[in-house]
Amino acid sequence: MGHFATGVTVITTRDEQGNPYGLTANAVASVSLVPPLILICVDKKADTYPYFDRSKTFVVNILSDSQEAISRRFATSGIEKFEGIGYHKNESSCAVLDDAVGHVDCRIVQAHDAGDHTIYIGEVEAVDANDISPLLFFRGGYRKLSS
Ligand SMILES: Cc1cc2nc3c(=O)[nH]c(=O)nc-3n(C[C@H](O)[C@H](O)[C@H](O)COP(=O)(O)O)c2cc1C
Repeated sequence: MGHFATGVTVITTRDEQGNPYGLTANAVASVSLVPPLILICVDKKADTYPYFDRSKTFVVNILSDSQEAISRRFATSGIEKFEGIGYHKNESSCAVLDDAVGHVDCRIVQAHDAGDHTIYIGEVEAVDANDISPLLFFRGGYRKLSS
């Protein structure tokens, strides 16, 4: 699957106190138009993993080609990921990152056990998008659109 080019996202959720959590993810896909459903796959070993099940909510932030450093930061466990990062909270108290291509706000409606990951299906509650270029990931490296 490393030969399958994808975008790059930061998926955010929160704990019971409203503290933000998030991780870099490219195992993200659209599932259904009616109702609007998307999926994310989260590693059970990720520090962020427990908060998806508890909060039942997440945001997919689609990164722009100027946000490689944010992708690297959110792919690193055990650090203060949100320190110095521009974001606001949506109605569900999940972080919406500044300067992204767009975001998709979801309510978790299903969870499927899948090996060392859990597939969460989210019903889309809100979306926003900007006309800027996305960050891409291909064969283990970051790429940009050439046209
Ligand atoms: C480009 C890229 C895509 C990734 N996609 C996923 C993914 O879809 N699901 C996942 O659980 N981890 C994915 N990861 C790995 C997590 O971002 C990484 O394990 C992160 O450190 C987890 O953070 P946490 O332990 O603080 O929750 C990806 C990493 C990169 C660099």
